[in-house]
Amino acid sequence: MKDNNIQIAIDGPASSGKSTIAKLLADKYHLVYVDTGAMYRTLTYLALKNKINIDDEQALTALLKEVNITFKRAKDGQDVFANGEKITKKIREHEVTNNVSVVSSFPNVRKELVRRQQALAKESGVVMDGRDIGTVVLPNADVKIFLIASVEERANRRYLENQKKGIETNFERLKEEIIARDDYDSNRKESPLKQAEDAICVDTTGLSITEVVNKCVELINKKIK
Ligand code: DC
Repeated sequence: MKDNNIQIAIDGPASSGKSTIAKLLADKYHLVYVDTGAMYRTLTYLALKNKINIDDEQALTALLKEVNITFKRAKDGQDVFANGEKITKKIREHEVTNNVSVVSSFPNVRKELVRRQQALAKESGVVMDGRDIGTVVLPNADVKIFLIASVEERANRRYLENQKKGIETNFERLKEEIIARDDYDSNRKESPLKQAEDAICVDTTGLSITEVVNKCVELINKKIK
C-alpha cells in the first residue's frame, strides 16, 4: 500500500492528545492532517460572533452553508480559516470550548461536516482526529487509534498549556469542564464518542509525546506494511 493513500483515524475524549499526536503522525507519513474538532469549533465561534442562538439547529446549518473552512500548514501546527479569515486562536477560546458540544450534537450540522470531512479524505491520504472518525467518518480507515488518558492527566496537560500561554486557569474547574464535555460528547444521540470495534486503544497516561508517537508508529507499521 502506498503510504500517502492511507487513512489514519484518531478518536478519543477531550484533551487526550489527539491533535498533537495526529500532527506528528501526519508529518511522519506525509499525510494531510484534518482536525475535525476545529470544524465544529469554527461553526461555534461564528455562531457566537453573529449572535446566533446555539440551540437553533436550522440557523446553525444555514450559517454553515455560508462558510468555507480551510486548513493551512503552519510552522508549529496548522492554521484554520473561515472564508479566508484566520481564526486559529479564536476557536480555542473558553467560550467556544464551552459551547461546542451543543453545536456538534445537531444531526444536520454533523451531516454537513461529515460530508466535508469525507471529501477531504477522498482528495488525499489523511490523519483525521475527532470523536466519530473510526465509527462514522472513515469506517474503512486503515488504522484506527483510540487515545485515552486519565482526567487528572488531561486536566494537567491543559493547565500547563494554558500556563505557558499566560492564561490563568483554575485546575479543579478545568477538570470539571473536561468531565462535562466528555459526558455530553459520549451520551449524545448522534454519533457519540465511542471506540470503534476495530480501533486500538492507547492509554497515554504517564507517557511522553515521543512514547505515544512511537507506540502509534508501531501499530501503524504493523497494519500498513
Ligand atoms: O477535539 P476538540 O476538543 O477540538 O473538539 C471540539 C468538540 O467538537 C468536542 O467537544 C466534540 C466535537 N467533535 C465532534 O463531535 N466530532 C468530531 N469528529 C470532532 C469534534
